[in-house]
Amino acid sequence: MHESGVLLRIDAQHPEPDRIARAARVLLDGGLVAFPTETVYGLGANALDADAVRRIYVAKGRPAWNPVIAHVASIAAARDLVTSWPDTAERLAVAFWPGPLTLVLPKRDNIPDVATAGLSAVGVRVPNHPVALALLRATGFPIAAPSANRFTEISPTTAQHVMTSLGDRVDLILDGGVCDVGIESTVLDLSGDTPTMLRPGMISRAQLAALLGHPIRDHSATTVAAHGVTEAQRSPGAADRHYAPRAEVWLCDASDVSEVSEALVRRANAASPSRVTALLLGITLPAAGHQITVRMPLDADDYARHLYAALHDADDAGSSLIVIERPPDTDAWIGVRNRLERAAH
Ligand code: TXA
Ligand code: MG
Repeated sequence: MHESGVLLRIDAQHPEPDRIARAARVLLDGGLVAFPTETVYGLGANALDADAVRRIYVAKGRPAWNPVIAHVASIAAARDLVTSWPDTAERLAVAFWPGPLTLVLPKRDNIPDVATAGLSAVGVRVPNHPVALALLRATGFPIAAPSANRFTEISPTTAQHVMTSLGDRVDLILDGGVCDVGIESTVLDLSGDTPTMLRPGMISRAQLAALLGHPIRDHSATTVAAHGVTEAQRSPGAADRHYAPRAEVWLCDASDVSEVSEALVRRANAASPSRVTALLLGITLPAAGHQITVRMPLDADDYARHLYAALHDADDAGSSLIVIERPPDTDAWIGVRNRLERAAH
């Protein structure tokens, strides 16, 4: 891997204290540090420093209406950022933190408005990654961090993905290897009367409902689209074309195989056939022309871990089309299916 001034290798399990100190210094000085979490790499800044948070938006090309998540090292630190900490928050935090769950709660005034895009609530989570936790402990302040990719691009699950997308726009990238979960955290809004899912992730709605002992309202983008409510009212960032590779994306099921096969053969026989990547589970498509076929894991956790790298690879291979077999419509796959729908949007 290319090592540059901004890329710093760090031991994912036992991060070297001098490297953590160097990254903490950058954050203390108001700079930007990309770092690994268990979900995806985050682009971090001091969440209490409005100018530093503004730099995140500039680096990503992220619109000002899209709030960022505040990362903290403990439940106590999360409580310092919010004006109410309901019993539901306590139970979920005890059960799932550190882990891929973001809780949205009414914010305290110490969080600058730029971090929440002017909203009165803030998203907080304790990431389950030794590097992220060491960095949080070293700085002593919450770290605002969206995924470390340019706006609308696929989230990074390796330091190399960050380097390619933002290398000239960050002060430091901590390279702690591949992210374990692979897709972004589940976002749950606890600021209203009913717990409401704003973004599905690998902690599922059924798991959250089982822990709380009552149903969770689903307000994630695919459901909202079906019900015709504007997503902007609740979770600004979830509305737009997101998690999108450069290539066109088709989703298909076993029932579409003959139709998709015919279309692929037609493309392969075109005057200047373009490369196609197929991410498949059980189906088989004709290996027409410049086709790359990737057999994806049959387990939802393994699939999530590999998904973004597979999409990055397809783009890097110059594919103009990515054909993806839809995974099963079961609880375990909801987070993955949500990202696939968005990629195909
Ligand atoms: O796993 C993750 O969540 C990763 C890692 C780095 O922690 N972060 C991440 O951040 O995915 P980002 O900015 O790409 O997505 C955060 C999304 C926002 O787009 C928004 O939809 C929702 O979380 N969100 C954050 N704060 C919110 C708030 N105050 N109210 C409603 N939704 C919020
Ligand atoms: Mg993102």
